[in-house]
Amino acid sequence: MGDSIHGVLGICHVANQACPLICYKSRILFLPKGVSVMNICVIGAGYVGLTTAAVLAELGHEVNCIDQDKHKIEMLNNGEIPIYEPGLKELIYKNYNYLTFAESLDGYIKRASVVIICVGTPSWEDGSTNLCYINSVIDDLSSRINSYKTIITKSTVPPGTNEWIYTKLLEKGVPPQLFNVVSNPEFLREGSAIHDMFHADKIVIGLRPDDQQSLSVVQEMYSGISSPYIVTSLNGAEMIKYASNAFLATKISFINEIARICEAFHVDVSDVAKGLGLDPRIGPQFLQAGLGYGGSCFPKDIKSLEQTALSKNIQPHILRAVQTVNDTQIDIYIRKLRLTLDDLPNRKIAVLGIAFKPNTDDTRYSPAERFIRELSESGCIIHAYDPKAKLDDHHRPNVIQKTTVNEAIHEADCVFIATDWEEFKQLNWSEVKQLMKGTIIFDARNCLNREKVEQCGLHYIGVGRG
Ligand code: UDX
Ligand code: UDX
Repeated sequence: MGDSIHGVLGICHVANQACPLICYKSRILFLPKGVSVMNICVIGAGYVGLTTAAVLAELGHEVNCIDQDKHKIEMLNNGEIPIYEPGLKELIYKNYNYLTFAESLDGYIKRASVVIICVGTPSWEDGSTNLCYINSVIDDLSSRINSYKTIITKSTVPPGTNEWIYTKLLEKGVPPQLFNVVSNPEFLREGSAIHDMFHADKIVIGLRPDDQQSLSVVQEMYSGISSPYIVTSLNGAEMIKYASNAFLATKISFINEIARICEAFHVDVSDVAKGLGLDPRIGPQFLQAGLGYGGSCFPKDIKSLEQTALSKNIQPHILRAVQTVNDTQIDIYIRKLRLTLDDLPNRKIAVLGIAFKPNTDDTRYSPAERFIRELSESGCIIHAYDPKAKLDDHHRPNVIQKTTVNEAIHEADCVFIATDWEEFKQLNWSEVKQLMKGTIIFDARNCLNREKVEQCGLHYIGVGRG
């Protein structure tokens, strides 16, 4: 596959490089009526940028994906995808000759009518958002805008940022008639990013009051995706993004707190979640109690929103409580493990899951990785396994990543489910019992079928499972 793809990709790519016009023209021939080919620059080839680039190419556009990370661009130009995201590799291969990957805007910005900003927005020490990457993108753009551009911010940025971007570009001498700034936050989940973009439950567009043209540009760009549009102000769109992530994280911390109470009354929290979920005012999603939320968005965005509120002298009581519950979730499991397994320092624990959630290799703010780190302080042997994610190399020597789930489970006193991968849900528990030395199955994601586990003579411990 690799080489042939390489061959095929190479030829298409060379053809595209040699005469983009041929590919452009040929592409128009095959597009559904009314769909026009736009030339788009996507800045930032991370989880959001690469997914956005691939989806827009699939929608019929010519997409130049720009990233300052030389190695990432080399990989992409060699047909290697630097991240694991289901379906992304196939979608990039399918649209390879409508995608270019480069380190600089030079040679691409001139033809582009749309620029989409997808660079990282990390946190400062206090949790507020560090806009230095956004700032360097503004610098890059300001000296290269010589024809009209719709500049779309997809990176998650605090309220007021897009207005600031607009003002900065003016200050840097870009004539107002040559650009507009639009806020179009993404709501994709890692592990289902492609699906989430094609089946978005909403497309949020933030516009400046006097911007009469960008909405039709964005609708044209996304034509092929039939989702409801929410059109609001720049600040409105930024707030919808933060409030969405904050509310989802609140649901998770809420059910985790309820699970703690259920534990005290020997109630099964999954029954409670089922009961809550049937109420359409509450809904069943994001009520799975477990080790807590992680990832590149929830932890960072909640802290940023907390700081945003404080910057306006507003006390973020709920946001703080959500973080407190989430930050103390792992301690509860370390304590439970100590209560369940005597002589913990001389035990061997198989921790299944390293990624912050299933179907991704992303370990940013991963509760599973934090659990491994904190548990390793007890001195016990930890054999970790994850289908895709890798432990970073700052772990103690008593932490070993295994390449198969059986290797990790072998001779273990306890199996601890830290990430709810499908592979773990489908384990053959009688085989697991054979491999293990102990009998404790700790389901810290409430994702296993308890009866099946116990039928095999194993002891099941869940989160608030009575
Ligand atoms: C990013 C943001 O972190 C998130 O807040 C936002 O919601 C969406 O975009 P993600 O795609 O997961 O999320 O980030 P990351 O995987 O870190 O990718 C960012 C990319 O931008 C990196 O590849 C980085 O090299 C690139 N980048 C960063 C640039 O190309 N130029 C810069 O100036 C800074
Ligand atoms: C999230 C938002 O869902 C998405 O809309 C936004 O664009 C980016 O941030 P993502 O970070 O990929 O997406 O993961 P998500 O599926 O939301 O899960 C976030 C965390 O919450 C994970 O650690 C997951 O394990 C945890 N979680 C999720 C729970 O603990 N319980 C649940 O019921 C759901």
